[in-house]
Amino acid sequence: TTLLILNGPNLNLLGTREPGVYGSHTLDDVENLCASAAGAHGWAVNCRQSNHEGDLVDAIQGAAGTADGIVLNAGAYTHTSVALRDAVSAVGLPIVEVHISNVHRREEFRHQSYLSPVVDAVIVGAGVDGYRMAIDHLVRKLTRHDL
Ligand code: DQA
Repeated sequence: TTLLILNGPNLNLLGTREPGVYGSHTLDDVENLCASAAGAHGWAVNCRQSNHEGDLVDAIQGAAGTADGIVLNAGAYTHTSVALRDAVSAVGLPIVEVHISNVHRREEFRHQSYLSPVVDAVIVGAGVDGYRMAIDHLVRKLTRHDL
């Protein structure tokens, strides 16, 4: 079983980008954390990051048939992208939306997500541990029928 871990724009800068907001962990740290969280259940991860909206659409489309679920931090495209929302709606896989920071206590424009209405769950403000929480949820959702 494989999960796609998909990170969007500027998340390649984790660790140096606004550490007061996003913490000191790098994208490498996040991807390693995801690999071990999934590995604890005997699952694998496919980690991708892109700054380009169309690449993210391609990655979501490509998950059909190659992944069983998706952890998606779409960065700023969360607040702007109908194209990503449509890709999420079309792919038919369980998806958890993650934001490292608590977007609801930040600027008004971050309070709106085009993705939240079409994903299974949203984890916001838990720091990079949100990725582990998302993976644990997907494992439970995909292996238990009462969730
Ligand atoms: C983010 C929150 C977004 O508003 C922002 O544009 C990001 C990161 C987060 O993980 O907290 O790039 O998705």
